[in-house]
Amino acid sequence: MGKIKITGDGHPLLDGKVQISGAKNAVLPAITASLLTSEKIRLENIPLVKDVYTILTLMKGLGAEYTLDKNSLSIQVKRILSQEASYELVQAMRASILVLGPLLARKGKAIVALPGGCAIGSRPIDLHIQGLEKLGASIQLEHGYIRAEASKLQGTEIEFERKTVGGTENLLMAACLAKGETVLKNCSLEPEISNLCEFLVKMGAQIEGIGEETIRVKGSDPLHGATHEIIPDRIEAGTFLVAGALTYGNLTLTHIQPQHLLTIIEKLKYSGVKIEKLNNRSLRVQGAPKIKSQDITTSPYPGFPTDMQAQFTVLMTQAEGTSIITETIFNRRFSHINELLRLGANIEVSGDKAIVKGKTLLSGAETRATDLRASASLVLAGLIAQGETIINDVEHLDRGYEKLEAKLKTLGAQIERVST
Ligand code: EPZ
Repeated sequence: MGKIKITGDGHPLLDGKVQISGAKNAVLPAITASLLTSEKIRLENIPLVKDVYTILTLMKGLGAEYTLDKNSLSIQVKRILSQEASYELVQAMRASILVLGPLLARKGKAIVALPGGCAIGSRPIDLHIQGLEKLGASIQLEHGYIRAEASKLQGTEIEFERKTVGGTENLLMAACLAKGETVLKNCSLEPEISNLCEFLVKMGAQIEGIGEETIRVKGSDPLHGATHEIIPDRIEAGTFLVAGALTYGNLTLTHIQPQHLLTIIEKLKYSGVKIEKLNNRSLRVQGAPKIKSQDITTSPYPGFPTDMQAQFTVLMTQAEGTSIITETIFNRRFSHINELLRLGANIEVSGDKAIVKGKTLLSGAETRATDLRASASLVLAGLIAQGETIINDVEHLDRGYEKLEAKLKTLGAQIERVST
């Protein structure tokens, strides 16, 4: 497993420009949506991250042919050669479940391994299954697999008991090929959902209510090929905003959509961080001499994103006072905290809350990454810790951040990957 070494001298000044990549959580459903047509799909602004290679391996096994040229992907599923997503691939990446809806809609059959739990919590998919059964699928759960069959999906009204990003995406894609109209209620509002809807419309889908909690999909014949641009990664952007805040830096983020970052920006400004919108695609962030503590509760978009919780926790270790971080989305998303304690943070976990006491000076130590956003929080902590921080199992980071060390090094960080 790979390692990253960071030498923080307590107050590195990150300075300069960083180009934010395409969104991992937008490109994964866009890639599985290519199952909905036998024609060629072209996706631009692809992030070259590990999860993209994983989903492409899975798609190849299903019959997809693709070429990746820098950050552009063309992919085509002329014929479905297999309807099975193996345990090994699903275990590697839970988002593999996003083949379930489109595969069932295109082929009438899908066998997908149950995702199981992971470092951030149990990852049930009951809402995906309930929705697909309402569309007329018959679904068996046996030997750790979901076996779904449907001669023809039939449009209907589906209301999600709880907000689910992946569930909304799976049902949107399945509904595109169902007979008649499907009304999806209590949909997630994340920008990645709207980006998927806009792509499906380009493929010929008839969708109303994009960006709203109720989305109507008129099922139609197989969709056709299209070209689409993946939206910028708002979580990578948020991670760099926190990096600029922590290092009292002066960073300009380019190729972003600031309107996807409103809650993150609002919370950072409340803590005293200076953020200035330069134009519709870029922001400048400057750290503050004093960071103000505040309580944060994660919630579905447009609330404070759970994917920014670990990163923001690091910022609160540098705030004067006590901050209570409440995680409401996943039931075990505090695995970064034990590692932050090793760096000298003062955090106590009680149920779904992390009570952070600041300001604490962090000192470098050897640490271990446990999941994607936890590893990002360790990088942020390493930037400001006195001395050397080693992050082991850094493959977690590679799942969702493209060239993170290179981007940070360009900004002046002392960071490098060391071979094991
Ligand atoms: C997506 O995961 C993202 N992943 C996650 O990002 C993100 O944290 C999450 O949405 C919430 O915003 C991708 O888009 C690939 P959910 P997803 O279905 O779809 C429960 C990252 O770091 N639930 O919205 O799996 C579930 O357990 C990753 O980039 C059910 O109970 O999230 C969780 O508690 C991590 N039953 C909550 O809902 C279901 O059928 C939200 O899950 C489905 C979900």
